[in-house]
Amino acid sequence: MTALVRIVEVGARDGLQNEAATVTTETKVELIDRLAGVGITEIEATSFVSPRWIPQMADHDAVMRGLTRRDNVRYPVLVPNLRGYTAAVAAGARDVAVFASASESFSRKNINCSVDESFERFAPVLDAAKRDGVAVRGYVSCVVACPYEGPIAPEATARVARRLYDQGCFEVSLGDTIGAGTPLTVTRMLARVLEHVPVAKVAGHYHDTYGMAAANAYASFEQGVRIFDSSVGGLGGCPYAKGATGNVATEDLVYMLHGIGAETGVDLERLVDIALWISTQLGREVQSRVGRALLARRAS
Ligand code: HMG
Ligand code: MG
Repeated sequence: MTALVRIVEVGARDGLQNEAATVTTETKVELIDRLAGVGITEIEATSFVSPRWIPQMADHDAVMRGLTRRDNVRYPVLVPNLRGYTAAVAAGARDVAVFASASESFSRKNINCSVDESFERFAPVLDAAKRDGVAVRGYVSCVVACPYEGPIAPEATARVARRLYDQGCFEVSLGDTIGAGTPLTVTRMLARVLEHVPVAKVAGHYHDTYGMAAANAYASFEQGVRIFDSSVGGLGGCPYAKGATGNVATEDLVYMLHGIGAETGVDLERLVDIALWISTQLGREVQSRVGRALLARRAS
């Protein structure tokens, strides 16, 4: 039987949040609308965080109001606290994501509180979301390594993943924030997480700093994971994880998945058009290997 994989496109949020130059709201909205047109059904649109912390996402309201909603597409947004949740829902969000960390140091740098405190902030978000019928995803950052603490024990990641799931998150996305993981460390980490969270509720969110993200996605696929986050053109990075690059490029992920017989519903050639378009908008070349290869083949 063909494996169906759900792709969560995070380029408009994770991909753009680290861009130094302001990307216009029109460009962000066009990116989201274009992505919705190539078969991607989940597009993380923006984040309702403090504009002092992440200036690039300051236009979150305008992005949510500007995009053209399609019935079959979900547009989740990041919220760090109840204030962000309230603003997100007022702007039309029906899907949100809270974000925790397996590492104390990263939690403090990224959201200015301890891991325990972050869960205290999430509790009212989950309560309100339940009342409002809004779906809440939970992220765990630094699932195998932290930019400040180094390697992270699989138990620490499993504990935070379990806590998010128990608190009411419908799914837990495992973030290799600095892209330091390998199939071995990711497999070990996943084995622990899967003792606590059903595999159908687990997503892989792998950054590609060391070029391992597609390999880590494949290792996770082998363990039964069928949800992956990725960023068109490989855009991105986290401002609080210096030196970390973007997520696995959506086109690299899709090529790999189609190549092993999985279905994603994504039109790879048209996705590469978007990678080229957004890279041009940002004044750079397409970063992904698959994007470059397919563009070179077209040119030859
Ligand atoms: P804080 O300074 O501790 O919070 O920041 P505070 O409650 O003391 O408020 C400080 C200021 O922020 C106040 O404004 C608040 O009103 C305002 P001021 O009075 O100083 O002008 N504020 C807000 N403004 C807008 N929206 C809000 C909000 N809440 C408070 N929701 C806070 C705490 C969480 C707000 C801050 O640390 C923050 O915004 N951090 C966001 C960091 C972030 O977005 N990082 C990137 C996303 S995570 C990621 O990329 C990892 C992931 O991809 C997975 C992976 O790869 O690992 C998901
Ligand atoms: Mg990320």
